[in-house]
Amino acid sequence: TLPSRVQLIDVGPRDGLQNEKTPVPAAVKVALVHRLQAAGLTEIEVTSFVSPKWVPQMADNAEVMAGIARQPGVRYSVLTPNLKGFEAAVPTRPDEIVVFGAASEAFSQKNINCSIAESIERFAPVVEAARAAGIEVRGAMSCTVGCPYEGDIAPERVGYLAGLMKQIGVQRVDVADTIGVGTPRQVQRAFEATLAHFDLDHVSGHFHDTYGQALSNTLSALQMGVWNFQSSVAGLGGCPYAKGATGNVATEDVVYLLRGMGIDTGIDLDALIDAGVFISEQLGRPTQSRVARALLAR
Ligand code: HMG
Ligand code: MG
Repeated sequence: TLPSRVQLIDVGPRDGLQNEKTPVPAAVKVALVHRLQAAGLTEIEVTSFVSPKWVPQMADNAEVMAGIARQPGVRYSVLTPNLKGFEAAVPTRPDEIVVFGAASEAFSQKNINCSIAESIERFAPVVEAARAAGIEVRGAMSCTVGCPYEGDIAPERVGYLAGLMKQIGVQRVDVADTIGVGTPRQVQRAFEATLAHFDLDHVSGHFHDTYGQALSNTLSALQMGVWNFQSSVAGLGGCPYAKGATGNVATEDVVYLLRGMGIDTGIDLDALIDAGVFISEQLGRPTQSRVARALLAR
């Protein structure tokens, strides 16, 4: 049965902007967060506390977090791959931190420079410290259907990673199609493997739209009862360690889909489209949201 309500996390400021070659001013990132919360987003993935040598665009993480005028009821999350990142993030008061692993060994090496087993060893003290500090912990699982280096990924490997995440105390996990290659049945199998370790309320879908499958994959997860999804305003983004991968599915397109199905998101589509237009103009490129393009052309 379909959920009656869906919770969306906009990852645009983080996943969407991390791959931009020219530095986006911190003030623009802050303005984007403000527009997203004004549009009704109640969780926003703001930035990441990773090495500025690896991802220069996120080097202004603390400045961006400090610049946000926080709105009650909105949760602000940040990526922290290790204790160093976590310690830098804590003073910026995130509501939630995200550790990020991969179902593929090769992707783990390219993205965070260690094996899956080593990544879990690094995450464990981060999760422990976060939980002790009352900060919630999400675990992103990359390459749950396909990997740019290894090709197809079997559901068993997703289950293996989800089990490890559960063991170290991660509270909820994202099933990510990093390179947007998945199709509905594959995505459902990745969720089935994850649901052996986490319940329906603690799994979310994170679909990049490289092959145009993200909305179909969203629907396939909805049909399983999944009600948490990540998406990116204007369809911004891509991962620097997944060559050729495009952005996440556009939040506008997901909101349109859900609204049409009578599923509540609490998001104002017009205000969201404005937010997407704002950041697209700042980046000097058209929005990737099909819904925004269609509605703006009317
Ligand atoms: P490493 O080189 O193995 O780490 O990198 P290290 O501990 O050996 O440290 C090396 C240097 O980095 C040192 O500096 C550290 O201080 C520094 P140096 O002595 O050379 O000057 N360092 C840090 N600096 C700032 N913050 C930190 C930090 N840690 C170490 N937290 C590391 C390991 C994970 C840090 C590195 O590989 C990295 O930063 N990778 C970036 C990964 C990334 O941001 N990827 C994109 C996000 S994930 C994603 O997009 C996927 C997702 O959307 C889901 C999906 O779609 O699949 C979530
Ligand atoms: Mg991503």
